[in-house]
Amino acid sequence: MTEFSSRVEQVSISGIREVFEAAGEDAINLGLGQPDFPAPAHARQAAVDAIEAGKTDAYTSNKGTAELREAIAAKHDRDNGFSVDPADVIATAGGSEALHIAIEAHVDEGQEVLVPDPGFVSYEALTHLAGGDPKPVALREDLTMSPEAVEAAITDDTAAFVVNSPANPTGAVQSEADIRAFARIADDHDVLCISDEVYEPFVFDGEHHSPMSYADSDNVVVVNAASKFYSMTGWRLGWVTGPHERIERMLRVHQYVQACASAPAQFAAEAALEGPQGHVDEMREAFERRRDVLVDGLEEMGLQVPTPKGAFYAMPRVPDGWVDAVIDRGVVVVPGEAFGDHGAGHARISYAVGIETLKEAIEVMREATNAVAR
Ligand SMILES: Cc1ncc(COP(=O)(O)O)c(C=O)c1O
Repeated sequence: MTEFSSRVEQVSISGIREVFEAAGEDAINLGLGQPDFPAPAHARQAAVDAIEAGKTDAYTSNKGTAELREAIAAKHDRDNGFSVDPADVIATAGGSEALHIAIEAHVDEGQEVLVPDPGFVSYEALTHLAGGDPKPVALREDLTMSPEAVEAAITDDTAAFVVNSPANPTGAVQSEADIRAFARIADDHDVLCISDEVYEPFVFDGEHHSPMSYADSDNVVVVNAASKFYSMTGWRLGWVTGPHERIERMLRVHQYVQACASAPAQFAAEAALEGPQGHVDEMREAFERRRDVLVDGLEEMGLQVPTPKGAFYAMPRVPDGWVDAVIDRGVVVVPGEAFGDHGAGHARISYAVGIETLKEAIEVMREATNAVAR
């Protein structure tokens, strides 16, 4: 067989899948990275209507339909305190493709990308695939990323740093002061800030802030998606927005790897963005209630857990053998090291499950904690 590229050889299949495979069929799965709610009915219906009207059989414009991009621009105006021209939005195959084209368009062979550690697994993998060199930035005790640590890690070879608030796998939310500092770092060091905001609506304490609102330079791009926002992970619809010249470069990658995002998904996302947002509020309220139940449960069993302020993950510090003991008892959680070396000694627990299931899982975790402590 011929050789594979050295870039692809640096990437392996996510450790999360291995955990799922190790678990039995009736395990309670607290490993999932998606909301456990249906997509909004009006979003589904918009796709059905568009399909039936024959509007989805052809490619759309590479950037996506004008109507979807207008809905995305209106959303940023409404929710985020910054304005973008709909011409500076690219609809993508989920947040994943948006991250891919952002990194591909900005990172040269051998250049560094600073990524949170523990952090979402794609940042490191996509950097490798672009020929770049991911540089992990260890998080603070409360699992937020310190702007000082980012600034200290910047070298002449740094192309970009990734900010992810609210964060996977930690549930941490960066403060407004941190987000302002990230914007300043992008300005002062002339380094790109890739802000991954896919968990934006799920902030329980305080508010979501985007570095795009504070940067004076053109050095921020924002990635977002309908995936978590509207519980539409299967629809594969995300977007990236940023300064025009950056969008034009990212479009070159998007045009060749994707051509355009799926047309039915674009109609569904447009309806989700423009329709009533009560569904998102309900998800946030449910996640917050579950967060409280989970954190209380973990603390009662003697585990230390930085209070997650957003998303739907908690990341307690756990003793050696804890993750295996929990999985052996039929609850799937993900070992922290799946998210980077600094994740070791932690576990990621997703609470995107009903509250009764979560309570059952907490009892199992309590048994496992007692067993490991003995
Ligand atoms: C932090 C973060 N960013 C981006 C994504 C990609 O989401 P999608 O491609 O499903 O929109 C995920 C998915 O888990 C994520 O956790």
